[in-house]
Amino acid sequence: MNIFRKKSMEVLSQEASNTSLRRTLGAFDVIMLGVGIIIGTGIFVLTGVAAAQYAGPALMLSFVIASVTCAFVSLAYAELASMVPVSGSAYTYTYASMGEFLAWLVGWNLILEYSVGASAVAGGWSAYFVGLIKSAGIDIPLAITAVPADGGIVNLPAIIITLLMTYLLVLGIRESTTANKILVAVKFGAIFLFLFLAGPRVDVTNWQPFMPFGFAGVSAGAAVIFFAYLGFDSVATAAEETKNPKRDMPIGIIGSLIICTLLYILVSGVMTGVVHYELLDTAEPVTFVLRQLGYHFGSAIVGTGALAGLTTVLLVMMYAQTRAFYAISRDGLIPEWLCTIHPRFGTPHIITILVGLGVALISGFTPIHLVAEMCSSGTLFAFIIASIGVVVMRKKYPDAERPFKCPAVYVIAACAVISCAYVMLNLAFMTWVRFIAWSILGTIIYFVYGYSHSGLNHK
Ligand code: ALA
Repeated sequence: MNIFRKKSMEVLSQEASNTSLRRTLGAFDVIMLGVGIIIGTGIFVLTGVAAAQYAGPALMLSFVIASVTCAFVSLAYAELASMVPVSGSAYTYTYASMGEFLAWLVGWNLILEYSVGASAVAGGWSAYFVGLIKSAGIDIPLAITAVPADGGIVNLPAIIITLLMTYLLVLGIRESTTANKILVAVKFGAIFLFLFLAGPRVDVTNWQPFMPFGFAGVSAGAAVIFFAYLGFDSVATAAEETKNPKRDMPIGIIGSLIICTLLYILVSGVMTGVVHYELLDTAEPVTFVLRQLGYHFGSAIVGTGALAGLTTVLLVMMYAQTRAFYAISRDGLIPEWLCTIHPRFGTPHIITILVGLGVALISGFTPIHLVAEMCSSGTLFAFIIASIGVVVMRKKYPDAERPFKCPAVYVIAACAVISCAYVMLNLAFMTWVRFIAWSILGTIIYFVYGYSHSGLNHK
């Protein structure tokens, strides 16, 4: 039995050339793509809970820790993405560098990133939707707008938006780059309007105490809001569509991370400067703060912008999940019929519907911060393995073409692994228990099904 058997670069290149896409994106497009995917629940939803329960006003520092971690990982990712430009991202890279079993575990944990992450986004969408409806004077009963842990029965708006996105994905509707740019503009509009209205009302006494939960709280806050940066890894997979990956990928990825970090620090600084952090324990802190200041109309506009932003993040995450499953099924590690392509729509409809139902169920019944933390745990694991993978690939394929080369790769990869591990260690104990249980389940599935059905058995 060889659970570390690898897929060769030749096979990957073949797969890449089968799916070759047109090179149309420049650095600016990559930045737009990045902020389009990255900015969502993290800033619009999790900042409230993270400030109130973990970091206090020092949430700004939590964002810095998380962004530095992402910067290291993104450099490693960009090299792999430019070298192995096939769908499946970290899963595929690991298959070539460290073999099937670890690749499967990475793929299994990408489910936490994409599906569980999408559930958190759907939960955030619901919070803003309910807030908007409420400000229009319509009260929807808590029973159908909140999960049981928050005093409701089911979060129906989250379920409905998820099923709607599933429908669009089955039909094959994806955002075009133009639609993405418009939605990014709307999202930026919402954030700038918030900063414009609330910024002048900052009262620095609200920043006292700055670190109410100490540095441990800041680190724990970083683990929670790490979620806010997710998505930059899917930017890396656009490498095969960029005109000049060597230049455009690093500018695009690092550029979008810098923009997001600045916005996140500004928003969390203003939020905690306007309202005392203890009051921010809400799922729609941005609009809550504006309402506290008496800006009801402004709050509604910002809420609408946030809804638009959250919708696109949800669509992209669910899309990414179906494509990750597609890559895994192509290798035989999950049944191939799951990813059958619909004859008319040309999309993997069965897996899309299953993903949609899964996301709908989780978002309908599980609190957002719990799923967001689960999402961070799986993603950080995948990032650690991918960062080791970039070094392994340098050793294993020293002469392979690398359109983008990670600078000082040994240092950067080591920093990526250490910083991811640090953030991961700061996740709540129960998140670790769930993460380990999830990984054990994945291991069992691999040995019961994956190993014996792997496409590599026939090679
Ligand atoms: N970064 C994405 C968000 O915050 C996942 O919604």
